[in-house]
Amino acid sequence: MTFLNLIELEALARERLPRMTADYFAGGAADEITVRENRLSWSAPTLRYRVLVDVSQRDLSCTILGRNRESPIFVAPMAFQRLAHPDGELATVRAAARSRATMIVSTLSTVPMEDVRAATTDPIWFQLYIHKDRGITSELVRRAEAAGFEALVLTVDVPAQARRERDIRNGFHLPTDIPIANLSNAGIEHFPAIRDDSALASYVMGNFDPSLTWRDLEQLSQSTSMPVVVKGIVRGDDAKLAVSHGARAIVVSNHGGRQLDTSITGLEALPDVVAAVDAKLDVLVDGGIRRGTDIVKAIALGAKAVLVGRPVLWGLAIDGENGATRVLDLLREELDTAMALCGAPSLANITPDLIA
Ligand code: GLV
Repeated sequence: MTFLNLIELEALARERLPRMTADYFAGGAADEITVRENRLSWSAPTLRYRVLVDVSQRDLSCTILGRNRESPIFVAPMAFQRLAHPDGELATVRAAARSRATMIVSTLSTVPMEDVRAATTDPIWFQLYIHKDRGITSELVRRAEAAGFEALVLTVDVPAQARRERDIRNGFHLPTDIPIANLSNAGIEHFPAIRDDSALASYVMGNFDPSLTWRDLEQLSQSTSMPVVVKGIVRGDDAKLAVSHGARAIVVSNHGGRQLDTSITGLEALPDVVAAVDAKLDVLVDGGIRRGTDIVKAIALGAKAVLVGRPVLWGLAIDGENGATRVLDLLREELDTAMALCGAPSLANITPDLIA
């Protein structure tokens, strides 16, 4: 395996993937301005590092939802991972365990959630899309609880699917041997090709509920023993509403630039959200995290942890579980080195003054 960082992965992975798949993973909404800005945003802040601090022992552990974890790196929820590699989500969850990261399994997983859960003894989270058919939603929640997921991540930024022009052009769909394994009980496990459109967009428009409000968050959080994490918040006032409607953690996210193009980036949104929640709950952030220094900046701005998405899929495509492990290890090693160079032996030492 020849990649040295998370930036050069995509080109290597593309050599191994059909264009439809690589474009689905890489692509975003409209002009993909937010996809680019997410990445670029982290390079702008500069680091005021400290020197002559004893950094001989470094501790990357953090506490999220009251549980101690060895690393602040999460694998973002991502659909259809068997498009990247035949082992799909099973390879990802094993990679996360090997690299001490926490996986978030998508509703649109291509391996049943119970099988992903059973592949590790580590805590993992389940991401939920609320369907118009609330029977489907409550069944997903019940299964996630029964399988022993630690938390439920409610994605709130898909009241409609953005136009993703690459997917429309490629007629994005799933081959018949790759089902949406969590929805087979609901009879909607296949996304066959449709004319002049993305089969995913058509599924989202037909099945996701655009009438969701804060009341649904409250009902969901009251209906499950799992803590509910709200993903897709970019404003302090929404963060406050999330807190008052039962959220237990927030992921600041613009869905990897795949939803509203020209939206605010995670980095830009983070300070407002962190100030609004006033340490009442944990804030995580995603979007364009590719370097250890990006994680240092996220934590300096008040995030407890970060989610990394596409690079894990590229790693999977290149070499399955080993490829995804290498991606997560590289990021963790870069974070460790960046902490040494910043004079921050632990995540608690990554304070706001490190940003110039
Ligand atoms: C699915 O959630 C996607 O963003 O493609």
